[in-house]
Amino acid sequence: MIERPRRLRQNAALRALVAETRLHPRDLVLPVFVAEGITEPRPITSMPGVEQHTLESVVEVARRCVAAGLGGIMLFGVPEHKDATGSGGIADDGILNLALRAVRDAVGDDLVVMADTCLDEFTDHGHCGVLDEQGRVDNDATNLLYAQMAVAQARAGAHVVAPSGMMDGQVAVIREALDAEGLEHVVVLAYAAKYASAFFGPFREAVQSSLQGDRRTYQQDPANIVESIREIDLDIAEGADMVMVKPAMSYLDVVAAAAERASVPVAAYQVSGEYSMIQAAAAQGWIDLRATALESLTSIRRAGAQVVLTYFALDVADWLA
Ligand code: PBG
Repeated sequence: MIERPRRLRQNAALRALVAETRLHPRDLVLPVFVAEGITEPRPITSMPGVEQHTLESVVEVARRCVAAGLGGIMLFGVPEHKDATGSGGIADDGILNLALRAVRDAVGDDLVVMADTCLDEFTDHGHCGVLDEQGRVDNDATNLLYAQMAVAQARAGAHVVAPSGMMDGQVAVIREALDAEGLEHVVVLAYAAKYASAFFGPFREAVQSSLQGDRRTYQQDPANIVESIREIDLDIAEGADMVMVKPAMSYLDVVAAAAERASVPVAAYQVSGEYSMIQAAAAQGWIDLRATALESLTSIRRAGAQVVLTYFALDVADWLA
């Protein structure tokens, strides 16, 4: 036999030398929830190990991210009061903007501070935009609010705004608004290919979403990939600095297609349901938590994602240390 592929697998040092993909804390972004009106961090039952944070505890988490050498932190706000237009997402004293300010003050440029630019956490109907008289999500009216939201987040200190509402034209409107306010340095990370996914389930508890109905008129059909290529091309043409695919594990083909095609860095989001499935199976003793989490994240990197958002980010930094 001339070809013996097993030769390169015979010990850990050889395997490490020829590894094609590496996980590194710098490539990881930790999503974090900050809730208004709580005095202690509050566990999220459906996401073991993940909590809603207070304005004080989120700063501690951000400091831990810096110490762990993570690439970034992505903040989500959970307001005490929600309304039809999600006004708490835009207000300078809204919980997300307060958290961005506190975190940015604490970390400076040692950690990339990202903001979820979307209204669903702030609306009483739970949709990612405002509704018209027929109860449909009004694309263009929503974009105007996203523009204000992005400007408020950038002023609060976000290095990166991440529109996740899947409205047509959202990236262009946000880019234009930022530039008009002298915020041309602020990065837009577009959730370009975002699917109407059942894997977002636990997130609904995390942000206490009151969603009625579903998001299928704006998020993509899991059956499609050509549509993702179109969304990615459009977002890059509109000025996206990075594009994201979400969820990750059931959409590795989309991650790979995006990485092949995009002229900008590609991110992938291992979402709440992906995290919780691994936690739940591990809690039963059916799989090994650490090995499964590391394998899942390695596969997302191997598919072509340069940046990975994951609730395991701090654990991974620990495991790799
Ligand atoms: C929208 C948003 C969602 C997630 C991130 N941004 C929810 C949705 O679109 O339904 C889900 C993240 C996760 O499940 O971990 N603001």
